[in-house]
Amino acid sequence: MPSKEPDADDSAVLPERGAGGASRAKSEASTKDDRSFVFEQIRERLLFYGSLTSLGFSRETEVEAPKQKPAPAAPARNETLEEIRADLGECTRCRLSEKRTTIVFGVGNPKAELMFIGEGPGHEEDRQGLPFVGAAGQLLTKIIQAIDLTREQVYIANVVKCRPPNNREPEPDEVEACRPFLDRQIDAVRPKVICALGRVSALNLLRTDEGITRLRGRIFSYRGCKLVPTYHPAFLLRNPGKKRECWDDMKLIRRLLQGAES
Ligand code: URA
Repeated sequence: MPSKEPDADDSAVLPERGAGGASRAKSEASTKDDRSFVFEQIRERLLFYGSLTSLGFSRETEVEAPKQKPAPAAPARNETLEEIRADLGECTRCRLSEKRTTIVFGVGNPKAELMFIGEGPGHEEDRQGLPFVGAAGQLLTKIIQAIDLTREQVYIANVVKCRPPNNREPEPDEVEACRPFLDRQIDAVRPKVICALGRVSALNLLRTDEGITRLRGRIFSYRGCKLVPTYHPAFLLRNPGKKRECWDDMKLIRRLLQGAES
């Protein structure tokens, strides 16, 4: 999706207005409403840019994502994350178990409305047994905070729970070995929205070969949840110019969480 220059179309953040004559005839009250709307939009933007300045986020414009069919009803929640973790045990279901230090099961609110799913643990995650605790994780924390949430309020997991050697991408059979456990985690948490972080997460969850550039910012369905792919934080660290699109995706997710979009 081509991005516009920041100031090219500020109407994207302004309320809709009628023709010149009609808007002049507006009452004082509605002019006041318009003003507070604009101030609120400006305030929100400044807060977001302020929170991300140190990470190199830049100004961007609003982009409406294409809509998809409503997600089917979520399956009944019938097991806990603890039970799933116990069932996983000291997993040796795929070759990733041979080189891992720690299984990175997932972390966060067991009743989260928003779940992030990344690719797989890196070096620091493998060491600590927690997802997204390295450099990419720090950016993910900022992204979560940018939509007024905390890491503790969301749930974070990966498509594979063991670190692929040398940070290579997980192989399809490794993803499939791990998938039943991830699916059970999703069914247990039953989030409103899943955010797939990056190409590997999105294409494995959606079983597609479309690129992340085409997938991001769109609403899909996975196990009765809405799923929105966006760029992986590690990719954003290497390509800071893409943060503007990530912010668009996060605003879409926020609207979905608020029920303002379906
Ligand atoms: N990258 C991922 O995809 N997952 C992690 O947990 C850390 C980095």
